[in-house]
Amino acid sequence: MNLPIGIIDSGVGGLTVAREIMRQLPRETIYYLGDTARCPYGPRQADEVKAFTWELTRYLQQYNIKMLVIACNTATAVVLNEIQNELDIPVIGVIDPGARSAIKQTKNNKIGVLGTVGTIKSEAYDYALRSIHQKVEVSSLACPKFVPIVESGEYEGQTATKVVEETLAGLKDSDIDTLILGCTHYPLLQPKIQSYLGEHVEIINSGDETAREVSTILHFRNLYNKQTDIPEHRFFTTGSSTIFSRIALKWLQLEKIDIESIHL
Ligand code: DGL
Repeated sequence: MNLPIGIIDSGVGGLTVAREIMRQLPRETIYYLGDTARCPYGPRQADEVKAFTWELTRYLQQYNIKMLVIACNTATAVVLNEIQNELDIPVIGVIDPGARSAIKQTKNNKIGVLGTVGTIKSEAYDYALRSIHQKVEVSSLACPKFVPIVESGEYEGQTATKVVEETLAGLKDSDIDTLILGCTHYPLLQPKIQSYLGEHVEIINSGDETAREVSTILHFRNLYNKQTDIPEHRFFTTGSSTIFSRIALKWLQLEKIDIESIHL
């Protein structure tokens, strides 16, 4: 079925999920909406995140999307169930796929979770992990300095190294063998996180697993795009299209991008 898959996020971070979906499902058309003007969602109250996420959802619904991916951990934590119950298309978030992947990887059942203040406070990952495996030990850590570093584009420099090391100092000597990057922005800091914690820690990027879940659902519901035309992705942002397109072109390795700045 040649309808678009809708992807929403608080900003550019969900592009890490979009990238994985585009890689694993190259025939599918993506309509992505990033609420860059109101990013970050991480420090906001749950009610506000809920209201914003509904606005994003309603916006993409006008395009007759066949599926919705809430590619934001903070939004997934507070409003996934509600949106799933109200929409008559499949809706998935990024927390369950990340949790499932971590449980598959861990050998000692000690899993770390990094996320925004909102995600960690919601305990959504703890709940998702324990609903699969009751005996798992979860060490969660909010990393409020990570999103600004990534948004500013400085995620490859020395400042980022320092922020990663200072933030993760408490996890350095823990015996977790698996770490979930429970925020869309964190995969951009993955090389620094890996090098600080060491190769013995398996890092889980929810984007991967979420894309696999999208694929399974499309297959199961016979919603796959069977046409072979090159998909025409569209991107919408509530903020500046110039900044968004600079980041999107780089992260998605595209040569051009169809992007529109919108008001909700
Ligand atoms: N997209 C958010 C998440 O995955 C991170 C950025 C924000 O705080 O809005 O939790």
